[in-house]
Amino acid sequence: MLTSQSQDSVAIIQSTLLTRAQRRNLEIELLLQSVYQLYGYDFRNYAKASLQRRINNVLKGENLQSVSQLIPLIIHDPFVFDRFLQQMSITVTAMFRDPGLFLLLKQQVITKLQTYPRINIWHAGCATGEEVYSIAIMLHEAGLLERSRIYATDYNNQALSIAEKGIYPLQNMRQYSENYQRAGGEHSLSDYCHQKYSEVLFEPLLRNKITFAHHNLMKDQGFAQMHLILCRNVLIYFDNHLKNRVLQVISNSLVARGFLMLGDKETLNLSSVTSQFESVVARSRIYQKKIQVLPDKSN
Ligand SMILES: C[S@@+](CC[C@H](N)C(=O)[O-])C[C@H]1O[C@@H](n2cnc3c(N)ncnc32)[C@H](O)[C@@H]1O
Repeated sequence: MLTSQSQDSVAIIQSTLLTRAQRRNLEIELLLQSVYQLYGYDFRNYAKASLQRRINNVLKGENLQSVSQLIPLIIHDPFVFDRFLQQMSITVTAMFRDPGLFLLLKQQVITKLQTYPRINIWHAGCATGEEVYSIAIMLHEAGLLERSRIYATDYNNQALSIAEKGIYPLQNMRQYSENYQRAGGEHSLSDYCHQKYSEVLFEPLLRNKITFAHHNLMKDQGFAQMHLILCRNVLIYFDNHLKNRVLQVISNSLVARGFLMLGDKETLNLSSVTSQFESVVARSRIYQKKIQVLPDKSN
């Protein structure tokens, strides 16, 4: 039988036996647990490698040596948490990003949406909104914008407020115009925006059809009766568990024969919803939900 003193010594010895990596993992676990309990954001199912890189950036930004030093700051200072949240959210995006895929969307999906009297689109993880305006332009050129409603969501409120304004740096427009043309654009991208000094502002005609809203894919439910969902370059940050949860939410949100567009590096292969979808074109990142899907029991 060990005395309490010797139990303490064993605990100390065991703790000193933890490797550096194990200690760091423990620190990260405690940090993520604190973030979850205090602020309701659950990053425990984010992919480990990118999570560690993001946390390193936070440490650098806050001028800290270790995750242990960050934990009390996160607990006591909501401004530190805000900066942490910004670091966790990678908002890199562009208009008509992957133009070849947008061309496929125009040819294979947008044309088929014509059959619906009202078209519902959900753009999950829209970041600063460039892709949302791209979709609105495509719908406009197909004569479908009037009867469409686009729900554009993200958990990053700062990014959402940029999206809502629809104001972007002029210097990006050259690249965006090229993407637009390669995606089958029928006019000139400048027809849809006004230049003001070094920025461009997109037309209210497009903005009026978009509802921007805070939505957290870690825990929130989806939307009902969506005909098209874009969730691009978001799933790559999740581990398999969270990815499968989000994909099931997406599948439940779609009407039968509804469409899903993922990012260039994302696929439904080996996910829990693989059997619920078919590819619109082999190996493309655009999928169509089958008419009858059996719900996945693990979710
Ligand atoms: C790299 S951007 C992709 C933007 C755009 N879809 C694209 O492909 O260009 C990833 C976005 O996903 C958002 N995101 C990450 N985790 C999220 C979550 N749990 N809920 C909602 N949005 C999330 C981030 O805030 C970020 O704006």
